[in-house]
Amino acid sequence: MNTRIIVLSMAASAFFSSCNQANKKEDSLNQIGLTESYLGKSITHEYDSEIDSIISQMTLDEKVGMLHGTSMFTTAGVERLGVPELKMADGPLGVREEISRSSWAPAGLDNDFATYYPAGAGLSATWNTKLAYTFGNSVGEESRARNKDVLLSPAINIIRTPLGGRTYEYFTEDPFLNKKLAIPFIVGLQNNDVAACVKHFAANNQETHRNYVDVQIDERTLREIYLPAFEAAVKEAKAYSMMGAYNKFRGEYLCENSNILKGVLRDEWGFEGIVISDWAAVHTSVNSLKSGLDVEMGTPKPFNEFFLADPLIDSVKAGKISENEIDRHVKRVLQLMYSLKSMGGEERKKGSINTEAHFKDAYNIASESVVLLKNNKNILPINIENIKTIAVIGDNSTKKNALGGFGAGVKTKREVTPLDGLKNRLPESVKINFAQGYQERYAPKKEAIFGEVTQNRAETIDELDPKMVEEAINAAKNSDITIIFAGSNRDYETEASDREDLELPFGQVELIEKVLAVNPNTIVVMIAGAPFDVNSIKDKSNVLVWSWFNGSEGGNALADVLLGNVNPSGKLPWTMPKSINDSPAHATNSFPGNQSVSYDEGLLVGYRWFDTKNIEPLYPFGYGLSYTTFEIKNVHADKKEGYFENEIIYLSVDIENTGNIDGKEVVQVYMSKKESKVERAVQELKAFEKVIIKKGETVTIKIAIPVKELAYYNVELKKWVVESGTYNFRIGNSSRDIKEEISIRVKGN
Ligand code: BGC
Repeated sequence: MNTRIIVLSMAASAFFSSCNQANKKEDSLNQIGLTESYLGKSITHEYDSEIDSIISQMTLDEKVGMLHGTSMFTTAGVERLGVPELKMADGPLGVREEISRSSWAPAGLDNDFATYYPAGAGLSATWNTKLAYTFGNSVGEESRARNKDVLLSPAINIIRTPLGGRTYEYFTEDPFLNKKLAIPFIVGLQNNDVAACVKHFAANNQETHRNYVDVQIDERTLREIYLPAFEAAVKEAKAYSMMGAYNKFRGEYLCENSNILKGVLRDEWGFEGIVISDWAAVHTSVNSLKSGLDVEMGTPKPFNEFFLADPLIDSVKAGKISENEIDRHVKRVLQLMYSLKSMGGEERKKGSINTEAHFKDAYNIASESVVLLKNNKNILPINIENIKTIAVIGDNSTKKNALGGFGAGVKTKREVTPLDGLKNRLPESVKINFAQGYQERYAPKKEAIFGEVTQNRAETIDELDPKMVEEAINAAKNSDITIIFAGSNRDYETEASDREDLELPFGQVELIEKVLAVNPNTIVVMIAGAPFDVNSIKDKSNVLVWSWFNGSEGGNALADVLLGNVNPSGKLPWTMPKSINDSPAHATNSFPGNQSVSYDEGLLVGYRWFDTKNIEPLYPFGYGLSYTTFEIKNVHADKKEGYFENEIIYLSVDIENTGNIDGKEVVQVYMSKKESKVERAVQELKAFEKVIIKKGETVTIKIAIPVKELAYYNVELKKWVVESGTYNFRIGNSSRDIKEEISIRVKGN
């Protein structure tokens, strides 16, 4: 048996000086997490006096032009003073196609193609912080090639309910995983002289009533669940811009919520960038500006009628707001421009787009995101030597998701569908019997619903077409194995409306059951960005795989996993409930509210609820199988007692690959504090590491947990407090598969 040691997570120097290094090997350095290099660069102040001089030469109209949209995705420049427009683009799936200057119609260009990257849920299912950096860096290069200053990404709101329309776009239900992915993503993006616009700040966790709903969250829950990724985005990644959300929080719209935009964001966290409104999320001129908003963007109405346009000029003239206040916001926009090198003459990154390297980045993310949920009888990976025919069934075999639904997509030259992926990877000797099986159908006309902001979802038609069913059954009967690509798509999961339930639409469950009845060698692959009710499929199918809206190379990555060219290593970034009523927001009957919504589950979001209340999920947070097996054992701490607040706890744990092929495992560390002065979830994720382990090898990994990560937010003291006492660390490969436990004493503050 080979053994090697890997140091992960924290600064190598810190680790090496505090641990016994008997087994240290040089190659371990390659495996050290990039935590240190994920620190972002702050806004520059080098040009402040030059900026003051530029502002002193500006007219009021010119200044105000820089504070509101003067086209769909730009603010005005001041040509005579060398100030360019600020150019923005959506977003999370890649650089969006160009939109007309004054309407949502596509600009109709032929040079605005881009790489379609996996949606947020896919990235988070990789549990790989290096891939988050890759994603940010890659889409940053594309943003520059399209000459953008601000990419409206990443979208990092916490998944409070599985029904949320943007679940596919967001990362996770867990604040720790969320921030660990957000930080490298932002740093990678901004390394390319393009600003991240971290959205949607804050407490924007549902689409229903999103334009006005007043969100109520207790202070501790806000700090511990909903804000950590935003806080880390500011303090660690140094995000250059934030997007103010549509909704209200504690009575104030978020684009004019001075407690959040000034009190928390600027005063507490030291944010120096700009706050950009979500599109048409502003409601006042003076109040929004005074409360901390910098730039108003929006949907079509004459741009001079925006709140931060003519009405703002009128307010200055009427003495309701001073020109000095206007200058302060203009100065921030200019500081951003100098930081991005769109001003100041320093050489700026030029970027690249649609390159093979970027498609490879998208492939790498996709191939680590696929989650193997069930694999009885080792049906996967498909052994092509033993088969001559494969039935490929389901609308999702050929469905494309780069565009669709309401909201930002990507116009791309490459989107490999699951069927294309199989064709690319299978030898010609294997025959594919394709049958669509089910259709995506809506009543009334789908376009009428999805073309506008509405919360009336299109009703799905769930009756199957008997002829299609017959074709599917025949294909399955006449093939050695069957793959059904089912799930949803980006028309069904969409911004601006939440789903009503977890049901699989379009009659899919019925179809899948019929196919399973004729061919037990059936592999069910779900392609979806959010949980669905797959209870009966889990029971009846030997194999269940979960894939995502997975980017330009999604089909190739999926085929590689199914055929065993890639060993799956994705893990669920959220809990899959058995029933929606088991989910915290629904169990507490506190979704979606109406004028107001109160997050009654408090701290117990996601697995925190399921694990604390002992409710069995269908699949737990962090879950995902591999084609090999791992054993996690021998946990040790570098010391048992006496960790002070500024120290780092180093745990070492062995992971053995006990199977026959190399694989990657995600080791997850959950903290549990039993005797606590305050309410605690039964466990909380505090560290994770993804490691490659060769077959038969045992790896000793060292995991670093800064003691300050154990703090709770003390509402009276208004600060994070590390409680003294015993903490249990539970180490496993999902929130429900804990293999090792160790308790450690901490001396708090
Ligand atoms: C979305 C944002 C997006 C903006 C511009 C809004 O509807 O909430 O995420 O960036 O539109 O497309």
